[in-house]
Amino acid sequence: MSRPNTHAIDVRPIEEDEFADWLRALNAGFLREPVVSAEVVEGRRPQFVPGRLLGAFDGGRCVATYRSFDQEVTAVGCTTVPADAVSNVTVTATHRRRGLLSRMMGADLAAAKERGDVVSTLIAAEYGIYGRFGYGPATTMTEWVIDVPRAGFDPRRPAVPDDGGRIDLVDAEDVRKLGPELHDRVRRAQPGAVSRTDFWWQTNTGAVTFDGKWTEPFYAVYRSADGEIEGMVSYECDDKWGDAKQPLNTAEVNWLITATPRAERALWHYLCSIDWVQTVKSGWRSPDDVLPLLLPDPRAARITTQADWLWVRLLDVRRAMEARTYGTDGELVLETVDADGFTGGRYLLEAGPDGASCTPTTRTADLTLDVAELARLWLGDESVGRLVTLGTVREERAGAARLADALLRTPRRPWCPDMF
Ligand SMILES: CC(C)(COP(=O)(O)OP(=O)(O)OC[C@H]1O[C@@H](n2cnc3c(N)ncnc32)[C@H](O)[C@@H]1OP(=O)(O)O)[C@@H](O)C(=O)NCCC(=O)NCCS
Repeated sequence: MSRPNTHAIDVRPIEEDEFADWLRALNAGFLREPVVSAEVVEGRRPQFVPGRLLGAFDGGRCVATYRSFDQEVTAVGCTTVPADAVSNVTVTATHRRRGLLSRMMGADLAAAKERGDVVSTLIAAEYGIYGRFGYGPATTMTEWVIDVPRAGFDPRRPAVPDDGGRIDLVDAEDVRKLGPELHDRVRRAQPGAVSRTDFWWQTNTGAVTFDGKWTEPFYAVYRSADGEIEGMVSYECDDKWGDAKQPLNTAEVNWLITATPRAERALWHYLCSIDWVQTVKSGWRSPDDVLPLLLPDPRAARITTQADWLWVRLLDVRRAMEARTYGTDGELVLETVDADGFTGGRYLLEAGPDGASCTPTTRTADLTLDVAELARLWLGDESVGRLVTLGTVREERAGAARLADALLRTPRRPWCPDMF
């Protein structure tokens, strides 16, 4: 089936006075109520950054949306790299599969490359959308549900950490004041984590809402014995009771960040010690989160979701590979294929635990792979051996995959705590 000509449809950065129409199209694309109040338009105005919101216009009406913004991603070894974060991607159902996303993405990635961003990032609504644009799934997310009565805690014990620290409930204003500094510390130490904008803190503490609806959650902070804030959690509780007047409440974590293992332990134990709460839903966690092992009986934690999370598109192979550290010393020649022409080529990676150099080379390739496959490997989550078995990485020299795994993989898995 041939595609209708869409070049009559204008794809371009939107003007500020088109923001309300753009938000209406965004809602329609995400199957949300396609009416946007003046209050929501005003609340979301900080998201309008000239040049970074693209739209497609047909007869003057916005029919596709795309937004990108500056972000930092933490690489393995904890250097951060500048990223082009992509969000709010929609094409109205009436205009789908006519190449509008391709046009917006092509324009945005070219601009990101020009700006010097090392990678582009996104969280994909559906698995099949972004691989063709050179993105690969680079981190995974896991959600657990904890059956609290089975976890093995003694309901008679107080919710006081046994390490001299303390937990206090705080309000949204405290979170906006104390959260950004804590989060900055946490994300810089976590490969795969991303920076948060001021707007993130506004929308995640109810100062700005996307649809006028907001339920105030609980916020708790963990302070160590010397008064340092080392952890913070936002959670909500429902109000469910059984027929025989048993409390059956669920505490659902919106987000939980910790800078130290003791804060992590204390906050999960706290959540499992709230009277009435029979179930704790973990929210989006790292696939190798210690959470289950923090419970006396880890079997009380059941995985309910496991899925790809942060997708990465390498825009500069050299800088991306030089930004990270490696598991051992070694040399690899990577033949990378980039159909869009941003960063393909043959590179000699001379890597070690303190860093690497990655330079163009004419040496014979050890591994041949698409940039989307290299993106899968960049944060250390995927195994080269697995991709060789799958046939998406070609081993040109015997033993190269094994060496690549020794270089690239990490003892702890990367994790991006955020949706954006
Ligand atoms: C996903 C979406 C943005 C795609 O937009 P689109 O304009 O239809 O995409 P394009 O026409 O540019 O498609 C480019 C290619 O990707 C493919 N593609 C697009 N969406 C796809 C999907 N959801 N699954 C699989 N393939 C998809 C197209 O078939 C096309 O393939 P081809 O080049 O082989 O012909 C649009 O369908 C949409 O808005 N969906 C609902 C909201 C959503 O999921 N947004 C993404 C949020 S992360």
